[in-house]
Amino acid sequence: MRTQVAIIGAGPSGLLLGALLHKAGIDAVILEAKTPDYVLGRIRAGVLEQVCVDLLDEVGVGARMHREGLVHGGFDLAFAGQRHRIDMKALTGGKQVMVYGQTEVTRDLMDDRAAKGLATVYEAANVSLHDFDGARPRVRWQKDGATHELECDFIAGCDGFHGVSRASVPESAIRHYERVYPFGWLGLLSDTPPVSHELIYTRHERGFALCSMRSMTRSRHYVQCSLDDKVENWSDERFWTELRRRLDPEAAERLVTGPSIEKSIAPLRSFVAEPMRFGRLFLAGDAAHIVPPTGAKGLNLAATDVGYLGRAIAEHYNEKSDAGIDSYSERCLRRIWRAERFSWWFTSLMHKFPETGEFGEKMQLAELDYLVNSVAASTVMAENYVGLPL
Ligand code: APR
Ligand code: PHB
Repeated sequence: MRTQVAIIGAGPSGLLLGALLHKAGIDAVILEAKTPDYVLGRIRAGVLEQVCVDLLDEVGVGARMHREGLVHGGFDLAFAGQRHRIDMKALTGGKQVMVYGQTEVTRDLMDDRAAKGLATVYEAANVSLHDFDGARPRVRWQKDGATHELECDFIAGCDGFHGVSRASVPESAIRHYERVYPFGWLGLLSDTPPVSHELIYTRHERGFALCSMRSMTRSRHYVQCSLDDKVENWSDERFWTELRRRLDPEAAERLVTGPSIEKSIAPLRSFVAEPMRFGRLFLAGDAAHIVPPTGAKGLNLAATDVGYLGRAIAEHYNEKSDAGIDSYSERCLRRIWRAERFSWWFTSLMHKFPETGEFGEKMQLAELDYLVNSVAASTVMAENYVGLPL
């Protein structure tokens, strides 16, 4: 079997890259370890920057997002029992974000790929990458008791943090930067109306809380929890009680509770691998970097990586230029490090850190007070939240 680009992983990165390549007239095969239902079962953040919305429109899968997604021009920061609105739209000269779940983005891309009859191999076991330092890379995998091989010109490693692509790079060729936070987020999805029409990020002595949403009838809430906590320890009732204790009085009053549809704990991590290109292998999305979810940058970074990569590969074939390929890693990393900085800062500002003590808490409160009362500081926050320019 032969193709131009072998894409490892059918998460949002792999699927969006597949769509961008198809639009540019380039053949690609996606190899995914799991089933479509498994991929769609993962609940992740859902705040899309304009660049991400534009990419989904560019490949023609934006219709449902524009119909069902919620455009937000601001969000609330809550601390010391009070809420303060950050008016993103006014502070950034009109920029807004689209609240639309990552699961739905993935579903739209998956359906589009299936409708176009583009090749995706699900349940591809033991995927292995070969000869990407030469001119003829190959990918092997097992399925239905047989070993398969795909020859290609390029490999795109879109297989997430635990994937095989980054792990296939010799240790001496790659450098990792990492911070693991001493807490996690416990998330609960429910068919209940959101507390407010916009998101509320709350800093509280008991820990961070976030009121988010998927629609006007479906909410997504989070509370900071300890790393060794287990979902089984959290009945729905315990979750709602804890969330309510952390919210400001007005939000607590408005909170509508109901049975959970999904409940899970995610650890928080900042991680970057450098570089993102190794000969004819490119890493993109979570395979190359992780941000903590505070600020919802994960999917947006993944989208801009594959936006750059799709264009670079198209230039290679259609314009006979490798300029985009050669600058891929550097261009991505510049944007990634700025988003890493924002996500780390927002996480540091809003969470209870076991080791910082009362002085650390006073610093957080002083910074929040400054942030919501200074136009300059609010503008910095707003322009990072809506997404820095490419
Ligand atoms: N072989 C084939 N596929 C694999 C392998 C493997 N060895 N390992 C992992 N995969 C698949 C996973 O099953 C998953 O479907 O790669 C896909 C990677 O998808 P994601 O983890 O969603 O990563 P990505 O597409 O880069 O999306 C980034 O996801 O975690 C969020 O916040 C993050 O929103 C961001 C987005
Ligand atoms: C979510 O809706 O799941 C969400 C929103 C914003 C975040 C993180 C998660 O910062």
